[in-house]
Amino acid sequence: MPAPSAEQIRDVNTRYHDVAAAEYDAKWGISYEGHGQRLVVAKLRKALGSPIPRYDRALEIGAGTGYFSLNLKRAGLIGELTCTDISQGMLDALSGTAGRLGIDVETVCTDAERLPFPDDSFDLVFGHAILHHIPDLDTAFSEFRRVLRPGGQIAFCGEPSRHGDRLAALPKRAALALSPYWRRMLGVGRRVEQWDEGEAVEHGLEHVVDVHAFTPAQLQDFARRAGFDAVRVSGEELVAGWFGWANRTLESTAEARQIPSLWFQYAYRGYIALKALDDRVLEPALPPAIFYNLLVSATVPIDAAPAEPVPQTSTVAAAR
Ligand SMILES: C[S@@+](CC[C@H](N)C(=O)[O-])C[C@H]1O[C@@H](n2cnc3c(N)ncnc32)[C@H](O)[C@@H]1O
Repeated sequence: MPAPSAEQIRDVNTRYHDVAAAEYDAKWGISYEGHGQRLVVAKLRKALGSPIPRYDRALEIGAGTGYFSLNLKRAGLIGELTCTDISQGMLDALSGTAGRLGIDVETVCTDAERLPFPDDSFDLVFGHAILHHIPDLDTAFSEFRRVLRPGGQIAFCGEPSRHGDRLAALPKRAALALSPYWRRMLGVGRRVEQWDEGEAVEHGLEHVVDVHAFTPAQLQDFARRAGFDAVRVSGEELVAGWFGWANRTLESTAEARQIPSLWFQYAYRGYIALKALDDRVLEPALPPAIFYNLLVSATVPIDAAPAEPVPQTSTVAAAR
């Protein structure tokens, strides 16, 4: 099959996320309470380093249902908040949650490569699990830089790492091979695939929406080419990621309601313990490239000349 065009990728991303919006928070266990806020603040701290300043005007790219921005806002780290996304369905879900939480937010449905904001509008441009969906990252990064004031920062977290992704395939494969024994041990039945219409659409489009997996050098280059400096790339989730993916793979093979709650307690506690090992021991010691997720931050130089326009070519092939 020929590679999809940039326009097709954007169109599929819009449809896929419109369908996913209603169940998105439940599917990913997204919380807007203390636990969610702690997770998001810890990720931003990893990306930017400590201490994190307060940002008066912040723009989220690909905000989805609001996991990052609503938690950051509740944690008191940002003032005025603008959330963008290519999917109106995701933004509608975000506005609903913001309303319930009493959070004031402007939402704008737009592509990350075309930001409808004047130059120098924001102090922070940020996102989570978004860069890998964007067809032309040179254009997107130059837009991020254009709308930031001199001294403003970008911070993107949760981007798939090319090597980390390949390493994570091993525990997934091992879990699949062991799943019949695991089901027998727990006394649970095999899952019979029964997708509703929404799940079927989602599943069919999944391979088109994830355009990139990055090396740390590629992320650095996108930021540098757009004129940022103080570029910093870090990695997170290694053994916790392997443990989590192995367990999710096992669970996906079984009838969900038959899995005993003790298993979920074990999976949750094990993940938290291994995450502490990743955070405290492995992330400071090992190269970012081998972790499952990458984080990138950078700063617009204070004495920066206006950003050069970038050539309108697709970087899909370059980043693969
Ligand atoms: C994996 S979801 C992440 C959502 C949210 N940031 C989170 O962490 O829960 C990716 C989001 O990016 C949006 N998206 C995909 N392509 C985009 C593009 N070209 N411009 C803006 N948003 C896009 C999708 O609609 C979706 O809401």
